[in-house]
Amino acid sequence: MSERWSPDSWRAKPVLQMPAYPDTAALAEVEAQLASFPPLVFAGEARNLRKALARVAAGEAFLLQGGDCAESFAEHGANNIRDFFRVFLQMAVVLTYAGAVPVVKLGRIAGQFAKPRSSPTEKVGGVELPSYRGDIVNDIAFTGQARTPDPQRQLMAYRQSAATLNLLRAFATGGFANLGSVHQWMLGFIKDSPQSRRYKELADRISEALNFMRACGLDLESHPELRATEFYTSHEALLLGYEQAMTRVDSTTGDWYATSGHLIWIGDRTRQLDHGHVEYFRGIRNPIGLKCGPSLKPDELLKLIDVLNPGNEPGRLTLITRFGSDKVADHLPGMIRAVQREGRVVVWSCDPMHGNTVSSTAGYKTRPFDRILSEVKSFFAIHAAEGSHAGGVHLEMTGKDVTECIGGARAITEEDLNDRYHTVCDPRLNAEQSIDMAFLIAELLKQERGSRFKPVPAAAGL
Ligand code: PEP
Ligand code: CO
Repeated sequence: MSERWSPDSWRAKPVLQMPAYPDTAALAEVEAQLASFPPLVFAGEARNLRKALARVAAGEAFLLQGGDCAESFAEHGANNIRDFFRVFLQMAVVLTYAGAVPVVKLGRIAGQFAKPRSSPTEKVGGVELPSYRGDIVNDIAFTGQARTPDPQRQLMAYRQSAATLNLLRAFATGGFANLGSVHQWMLGFIKDSPQSRRYKELADRISEALNFMRACGLDLESHPELRATEFYTSHEALLLGYEQAMTRVDSTTGDWYATSGHLIWIGDRTRQLDHGHVEYFRGIRNPIGLKCGPSLKPDELLKLIDVLNPGNEPGRLTLITRFGSDKVADHLPGMIRAVQREGRVVVWSCDPMHGNTVSSTAGYKTRPFDRILSEVKSFFAIHAAEGSHAGGVHLEMTGKDVTECIGGARAITEEDLNDRYHTVCDPRLNAEQSIDMAFLIAELLKQERGSRFKPVPAAAGL
C-alpha cells in the first residue's frame, strides 16, 4: 500500500458494487464535465470537521449523523430539506441540553445517492433486471430502460447536492438555527404528542436560560454559537468515478480532498483492504468513516486503520459499527480492545439501523424501534465497560411522518407500514421516532457523563 496514490489509482484495483455503464464514452464525458465543476465543499471546512471529530474521539463531544438511506430526485424539495433540518436540530438541542455535551452535526445528505445492493439483479414475476443502485446510477422503476445505468444522472445528483447544500447553509447560518428559535421549530410537531410536550418543556427551559443570561447583561446576539450552527454533510462514497471527478487539490496545503461532501465513508460491503475503495480513501485528507459489520475481524480492522489513518490523526477516522442488537455484544468488545491495545485514536459511532433490518409479514423491509434502541444501549454499556467513549450515532431518519420502522411511542404496527412507506431504500425513523430516540440517547449520555467521574480501570485508557 505504500505505492504512489493519485485520484485515479483505485482504477488499477478490483472494485465491488460499481454499475456497468453500457456507454463508456458518455460516462467519460460526464466525469470530465464534473471535474470542471466547482467543488461542493471546501478543504478548510473538512479540516474543521476533523477537529470537531477529534473532540469526539477525546470524549469531549458527541456525533449526531443522520438522514435518508438514499436521497431521491423525486423528493428534492425545500419542504423536505427544511423538515429534515428542523428535526435534526431538535435532536441536536435535546442531546446538547439534556445530555449536556456539544454535538457535532453531520447530515447524511447533499450527496447520499449511491447504494450498494446485496444482489446485482432483481427478479419480479419471472423478469430479471439490474438492481436499483440509487438515483445517481439508475431509476427505481422496474423497466429495462429505467434500470440501465445512465451517466447523466451523476450531473443531476451533483446539481441536487449543490442546491440542497445551499439551502442547508442558509438555514444553518441565516437565522433558522438561532437558538432563540427553539420554540419555532415546534411547528413541525404533531399537536399534543408526547414528544411535542417533552420538547416544549425543554425549549421553555432553554428560553428561560437565554432570558436569564440577557438579564445579566450578556449580549447574546454577539455570540455566533447561538445565532448559527455548524452543519456538515456526508455520504457513502461508493461511486468512485464521481468521487474521483470531485477530488481536488487544496491550494493552501497541496493536499487532495474529496469535495463531494465534508465526510465520506466506506460501506460495509466495499472495505476490502486491497480493493479500489480503500485505495481511493487512503489518499484524501477529509475525515472519513468506515462501516464495521459482523464479518470484520479485529486484526483486519487494525490493518485497515494502518492504511486509512497511518498518522493516527485524531478525528480522521470514525468507525461506524453496525452489528445488530443480537450480535453487538459478541463483536464490539473485541474491536474496542484491539484498537485500544494498538493505541489507535478513533471516533466510535453506532449505526443501529443496518444490523436490525427485518421483513414484515407483508414483505416490507422494516426495523423495530426496540431493536434499534437496544443496539444503542448495548453500544453505550460496552463502551462504558471497556473504558472507551461512546462517541456518536448514525441514524437513517427523515423529518416526515412516514411509517417505515415499527414501534416507538406511537407504536407503528406492521399493518401501518402500508400507509406511508416512502423510502426508496431502507426504512427510516420518522420525525417522532427520531425525537424519541434523541431523548433516550440523551439519558444514556447523562449516565455516561455521571460514570466518568468514577475511577476508570487502569487497563482501559485510550
Ligand atoms: C447504508 O449506510 O445505507 C449502508 C448500506 O450501510 P452498510 O454499508 O453498513 O450496510
Ligand atoms: Co441504508
